[in-house]
Order: sequence, then C-alpha cells, then structure tokens
Amino acid sequence: MSSKKELIISKIRSGVVIDHIPAGRALLVLRMLGITGREGFRVALVMNVESGKLGIKDIVKVEGRELTKDELNLIALVAPTATVNIIRDYEVVSKFKVVVPDVIEGLIKCKNPRCITNQQREPIRSRFRVVFREPLKLVCDYCGTIHDLGDIEKSLGIT
Ligand code: CTP
Ligand code: ZN
Repeated sequence: MSSKKELIISKIRSGVVIDHIPAGRALLVLRMLGITGREGFRVALVMNVESGKLGIKDIVKVEGRELTKDELNLIALVAPTATVNIIRDYEVVSKFKVVVPDVIEGLIKCKNPRCITNQQREPIRSRFRVVFREPLKLVCDYCGTIHDLGDIEKSLGIT
C-alpha cells in the first residue's frame, strides 16, 4: 500500500489514474489526451519512479475530467504498458490495460504530402487502420501510406 509513489503524489478523489507508463512518456500521454494544462482541471504527473513490474515508470492523474475508453485507448500508441484506473470517491472502480484501437481518426497527420488529408482546400479528417501491432504499423485509409511508431511520434511533434 505505502509504496514510494504515494510519498510523491496523494490519492485522488475522483478522476483517472494512468499508471505503468513507460518512463519518460507521461508528457506524450497528456498530448494524446489533448491535455495542455490550460483547461483548468487538476493534473498530477510523476516521472521516473520505481515500479515493481517496469523498473521505472511514469504516472499521470487527472481529476475532474471525464475521459472515454476510446480516448484512453489512444494512449496505447505511446504507452502500450499503461493501466487505466477510474477513481470514484477515492476507490478504484474500474481498471483496464490500454489497447491500440483498430481505427485512429483525426489525431495523426499522414506523412504523404500529396495525401487528400493534407490538402488545404478540402480538409479531410485523417484516418488510420492498424495493420500490425508489434511492432506498430498503421496504414492511411486514404492513400495507403504505412506509418510506424517513429512517424506517429513525428506527427505528434515528438522527436
Ligand atoms: N490511486 C489514486 N487515487 C485513489 C486510488 C488509487 O491515485 N483514490 C492510484 C494509486 O496510487 C495507483 C493506481 O491509482 O497508482 C492504482 O491503484 P491500486 O489499484 O490501488 O494500486 P495497485 O494495486 O498497486 O495497482 P496495480 O495492480 O494496477 O499496479
Ligand atoms: Zn494518407
């Protein structure tokens, strides 16, 4: 119960705890969720703490914002080991491991400059399908260009 991480941030009353994030990836998780810190709800972020399973991990706690399972599963692209805990009245009421969704819409930009989703005149929401999970490969639904994790990270502004 009283593991080291509890000394760093306290338990939350209600919201979501994203645990077992690979070390150093907490900021990417926030980015995947569209959380900038300017929205007003409380966010706690812990990086590089000890974990039994992973060695070292990050944790993100978000209070006062509802996140859907679909939104949370997007985290799997950058943090495949993450566990999501839904908290109500200080209790963990639901816990699940994130899974990469079959279809990812609107989040990633296609790397093909000629792709219809990159045309200024007629903006179309990007759409990718998972063709391979390990290692991750996504295909653009419009032009067929294959994207790997490096492409996804570049698209999200991560170098
Ligand atoms: N947590 C929290 N606030 C609460 C309840 C739990 O911040 N009111 C956090 C815990 O600190 C932990 C995570 O949510 O990081 C999961 O809680 P729990 O299931 O109680 O911990 P473990 O059993 O260690 O989880 P796991 O088996 O997933 O490692
Ligand atoms: Zn494309």
